[in-house]
Amino acid sequence: KVHFDDMKRNNMMELPPRPTLFDFHGVSMTKYFTDNWDSVQNFKVRPDDILIATYPKAGTTWVSYILDLLHFSQMSPERQESVPLHDRVPFLEIHMPGITSGVDELNKLTTFPRIIKTHLPVQFIPKSFWEENSKIIYVARNAKDSAVSYFHFDRMNMVQPEPGDWSSFLQRFMEGKMVFGSWYEHVRGWWEKKQTASNILYLFYEDLIEDTERELNRLCSFLGLSATTELKRQVMEKVLFDNMKHNKMVNGSVDEVFDSKISPFMRKGKVGDWKNHFTVQQNEQFDEDYKRKMKNTDLQFRTVL
Ligand code: A3P
Repeated sequence: KVHFDDMKRNNMMELPPRPTLFDFHGVSMTKYFTDNWDSVQNFKVRPDDILIATYPKAGTTWVSYILDLLHFSQMSPERQESVPLHDRVPFLEIHMPGITSGVDELNKLTTFPRIIKTHLPVQFIPKSFWEENSKIIYVARNAKDSAVSYFHFDRMNMVQPEPGDWSSFLQRFMEGKMVFGSWYEHVRGWWEKKQTASNILYLFYEDLIEDTERELNRLCSFLGLSATTELKRQVMEKVLFDNMKHNKMVNGSVDEVFDSKISPFMRKGKVGDWKNHFTVQQNEQFDEDYKRKMKNTDLQFRTVL
């Protein structure tokens, strides 16, 4: 029996090349997220659309799946078995001709509400999200674990820039030379926006790990959903890391640009894996730089320093 990953590996000739980073209005980006810029900026938002926004690797898939289950698992259980999560929750700005285009996917989506994924920094969000006042859920994850997770992701995602070795990757992370730019500016930009925009719920990956049920309840009350105890129990069960890891519709195994033999998409799902990657010296340098970049903000991550 041919392994699915090998089939994908053999097809990889057809994949687009690994892209290079360039400066796009002050943010490092690749062409796969900027080529369709006008359509993204002019995207027609509906007031009941729900946006899940994150810097990459903050738990986007986890929260997307929670949102999808809360809205649709009772209505259409068969969809859970047959439609990959990335088709249920389209990725707004992605544009890879012949593979996927977020705006096209969204325009085809027939479910209500639409749940939309984005990694855009706040200043790039299409203005109609603000005009329509649609609900936005932002998830932030501590910088060190985000960097580690992003490193392994760039190793296995064939349409991300080459990560290089860990130490050069970490340096680039601190410089903000990552796809979707600087982690520091991303989490701060969204945090500042939240102070004036009532349509944003700002969540933390570490809080979801600590008490998923509490965060699920926060999500429901923000969205005005009255989920039954039984539905919440089912959602909690389905979104356990190990259950998601074995669920082909959500674990990235049907994503043709991922090579999960290099590193699985559902990798560890832990807080503090950075301790297995940072040297003492890297950690000291990172902390010092972090304090500089994160001063003058009341945004606090519990587990970083
Ligand atoms: P690790 O690489 O640290 O394991 P995103 O979906 O934004 O790309 O984020 C991916 C990260 O979220 C990965 O982190 C992944 O393992 C983690 N993750 C996904 N589902 C999870 C879950 N149910 N519980 C805990 N972590 C989860």
